Amino acid sequence: MTQDELKQSVARAACDYVRDHLPAGAILGVGTGSTANFFIDEIAGIKDRLGGAVASSEATAARLASHGVRVLDLNSVDAIGIYVDGADEIDGRMAMVKGGGGALTREKIVAAVADTFVCICDASKRVQTMGKFPLPVEVIPMASAYVSRELGKLGGTPRLREGMVTDNGNLILDVHGLSISDPVSLEAQINQIVGVVTNGLFALRGADVLLLATANGVETHVR
Ligand code: A5P
Repeated sequence: MTQDELKQSVARAACDYVRDHLPAGAILGVGTGSTANFFIDEIAGIKDRLGGAVASSEATAARLASHGVRVLDLNSVDAIGIYVDGADEIDGRMAMVKGGGGALTREKIVAAVADTFVCICDASKRVQTMGKFPLPVEVIPMASAYVSRELGKLGGTPRLREGMVTDNGNLILDVHGLSISDPVSLEAQINQIVGVVTNGLFALRGADVLLLATANGVETHVR
């Protein structure tokens, strides 16, 4: 199976999960990235069951709207039943590195509101120890040099992502060379650096359910 076929299969499984677990009329949170895009295309088929969707990026909002899915502002909803999103890495405790697409801040906000976080990815994203994928950190532009120096003290090598401005008007530093043995502490520690908006570790609030596409089918893991 190609990687796109794996993404397609997990997107289909996530759509089934939503159909089975999200009450009719409830709100769905939708992530960002290539796997999330397959998912968006799948949920077009069940859009009439949804009360609407909250998007984690402008790109996702546009794709949802192109399928006729009602896109809601987060401030206009009281609750999100399920949030479905991909990941760049996920470990055995369902902590994730996210933000390869630069949407980490809005993803973390929508995930915080959601009752259930369903992570969808192919088996290549499952790792023992996270850090091989450079950890994205969204920063306020005027603080990028300072934040870089502070991230360097934590043992990584931050690099400014060239040509990237987030949906929030900020910059992304990708931190290379980390071996993340304690994702919960590192997430909190990076959040304490002044000028950091969010970091791409989703450990304090990890995934509740992992749908993992393998060559033998989609596995379901529950935290
Ligand atoms: C977007 O900012 C990311 O968090 C994505 O969820 C993550 O990068 C996974 O993307 P793919 O599904 O494209 O691998």
